Amino acid sequence: MTKIQILFALFNKRIEKYIVNLIEKRTTATGEKTNNSYLFEKFSFTFVFLKFFLKVTKLYKIGYENALDVQVNYNQFISKKIPKVFSGFNILHLSDLHLCLIPELAEVLRKKIESTDFDICLITGDFHHKTEKDSSKSINLMKTLTPVLQKANYGVYGILGNHDSKEMIPALEEIGIKMICNETIEIVKNDAKIFITGFNYRESYKTLEFFYISNKLNNKELNIFLNHSPRVIYEASFFYDIYLCGHTHGGQICLPNNKPIIIRSRALRKYSSGTWKKGNMLGYTSKGAGSSGVPVRFFCKPEVTVHTLFNE
Ligand SMILES: [Fe+2]
Repeated sequence: MTKIQILFALFNKRIEKYIVNLIEKRTTATGEKTNNSYLFEKFSFTFVFLKFFLKVTKLYKIGYENALDVQVNYNQFISKKIPKVFSGFNILHLSDLHLCLIPELAEVLRKKIESTDFDICLITGDFHHKTEKDSSKSINLMKTLTPVLQKANYGVYGILGNHDSKEMIPALEEIGIKMICNETIEIVKNDAKIFITGFNYRESYKTLEFFYISNKLNNKELNIFLNHSPRVIYEASFFYDIYLCGHTHGGQICLPNNKPIIIRSRALRKYSSGTWKKGNMLGYTSKGAGSSGVPVRFFCKPEVTVHTLFNE
């Protein structure tokens, strides 16, 4: 190898490292400033201490009852890119069910959903709670819910969250949930189409597949993006029109002014619940139907959401 070849190889290596660093930096910080409180939130002793404190102060029972008080929230997405025939199309958005943590939640949800009208159901992950190794309890509870979800004429679709494993995919498909795993599907109504892309939680920001699939999208059509967390909002805003996610649980335990104490995500707090906008992309972060860590909620009721699409 000549000196020039060695220099060229070193230069190439440096460029490669620079690009990898750039992608890592952008994908972990939503292209903006990182929410550093995330690091504190990773320690599990926080939950042990919290549970002990709530039991001693008798607040645990109140928090548990709050965690079962599911609200049905309504939201509208208005965009020129929504085909006219899809105006009035209702999306039932479920997220973060963590069913094995509060088994009674399945029946509460079933009753709420039974009296709700929707055309399609989209579930943005965390069917299960990973402290329980066996996911069959969550799958069986989900199975009691799927008959009411099946009333959606355009199907029931889901993606995996950080508490779910790939091994759960066949069982979820068997009970009638079509899992979207790093792919784009199309929903056809009359002569119009909308597209839905979904990612497995762990692959949505660790691989370049995200950009590869996105590059194949037709930006003249409406593209909906399902991702478990709001972490890749910056990247997605270049490719998608609507971003649906959960993961934060809206903070789950909030201050009396409904502001979250912690949000368990690197995403900025302005993306931690409800509607938001990034560039031309509209988005919604669900507060989740279930609870995580400790099965309690304060000043942050669990939700299922109905998003209605309207052509501008
Ligand atoms: Fe969750």
